Amino acid sequence: MLVYEGKAKRVFSTDDDQVYRIEYKDEVTAGNGAKKDAMAGKGRLNNMITSRFFELLTEAGYESHFIKRLSETEQLVKKVDIIPLEVVVRNIAAGSITKRLGFIKGEAFKAPLIEFYYKKDELNDPIVTDDHVKLLGIADDADIAELKRQALNINNKLVDIMNRMNLDLVDFKIEFGKDKDGNILLADEISPDTCRIWEKDTKENFDKDVYREDTGSLIDTYTNFYNKMEAL
Ligand code: TMP
Repeated sequence: MLVYEGKAKRVFSTDDDQVYRIEYKDEVTAGNGAKKDAMAGKGRLNNMITSRFFELLTEAGYESHFIKRLSETEQLVKKVDIIPLEVVVRNIAAGSITKRLGFIKGEAFKAPLIEFYYKKDELNDPIVTDDHVKLLGIADDADIAELKRQALNINNKLVDIMNRMNLDLVDFKIEFGKDKDGNILLADEISPDTCRIWEKDTKENFDKDVYREDTGSLIDTYTNFYNKMEAL
């Protein structure tokens, strides 16, 4: 049964009430749905790439919602209640932070920066402080500390993986959920849709910016990224 349909994925219940099946769609959006296109093969690429990232994180000892990849476009995950925050980690200035705070694109930060955005389409996912997160009743101090701890751990591992592919992980967005016991688990996806990735030497984009900025073929870009990942 369909439980939830988002912009890029559909979530289905399974025979096991603690397990969901996620199906990746052949759809791409940017700017909170302002730009939208059907794109054959995109669901497969994002599912294959996300599944591989989750497998690598599992091998490195990070627990997540991921159970296994089921097919080229589907995966099985643990059921969690998604915490309505987009957790963004930034290593290098790009995207919205260059516009909001005037950082120069490409400037490396001394330490990774963590930001929270409130997942609320009607409000356009505004950036929020820890105090807003508490006031909105989304998370308490302990949860906020745990989200930040896990986000930094995940950043370290993802930076390692990208370095081995001669890529810089500029920034990325992750989401977390709580399982039935209240444990905070990494959920959602990790793919070129949710990461900003630059080739170290040429600074070429390996991410959704090629679609956002109309600078290249999304399918070719994600295929190149997946091939690099497979060669690890
Ligand atoms: P930003 O520079 O637009 O704030 O994006 C930071 C990172 O978060 C970038 O890697 C893209 C990712 N992201 C998403 O995955 N979903 C979103 O809705 C937004 C705004 C950003």
